[in-house]
Amino acid sequence: MSTLKENAARAALAEVEDGMTLGLGSGSTSEAFLRLLAASGRDVQGVPTSDEVSGLATELGIPLTVPDEATVIDLAVDGADEADPRGDLIKGGGAALLREKIVASAARRFVVIADASKRVGQLGAFPLPVEVERFAWGLTVRRMREVLAEHGYAEAELTLRPAQGGFRLTDGGNYIVDLRLGRITDAAALDRALTMIPGVVGTGLFIGVADTIYFGTEAGAERQDV
Ligand code: A5P
Repeated sequence: MSTLKENAARAALAEVEDGMTLGLGSGSTSEAFLRLLAASGRDVQGVPTSDEVSGLATELGIPLTVPDEATVIDLAVDGADEADPRGDLIKGGGAALLREKIVASAARRFVVIADASKRVGQLGAFPLPVEVERFAWGLTVRRMREVLAEHGYAEAELTLRPAQGGFRLTDGGNYIVDLRLGRITDAAALDRALTMIPGVVGTGLFIGVADTIYFGTEAGAERQDV
């Protein structure tokens, strides 16, 4: 595990108190957090954002809960693929974007942990993952192309994410379409436009959701409050 990821994870762990319900993010930086959390012996329960994290947390002895409308998530901790100066994010490189967004948005506080390479001036170099209903996905992709062209992304390349023997399925049974946009000029407007398309289940744009980002460095972690 890289020192940078671990340093970011350690900074988030300092925010964890006994008795908390934690949103547990997915990806390699979240895995570093999970391992540190388990080793710390903190008395917490977790809400996992993917089947993979659920399995790892169980293996590590972290108690899990299934959220309902009465559940209070005190703190969610998760990684990111890109983070801009406003604290807006691209997530979903690991295909867990929908559950991650549900949990992060419901949490009282959302802390992002990332190595310093995820810090960007403008979002968009990382292909934007969009979760799409499998039924008539071709029609949804066609509509996405039209909407992207209307928003100035006529050159965008859309790829249905492959997996061994077919296409990648999310834990919810949907497809992922990765959008190569180059740079995103108005992330909030793009997110709204894509989310309006029937067939789009959710995008990997996390706009105004993060409260704090810890960027792991060799020396420790740099904190960005949003
Ligand atoms: C999972 O779907 C993603 O949102 C991850 O949180 C994101 O891809 C960051 O992953 P790493 O921590 O592995 O870079």
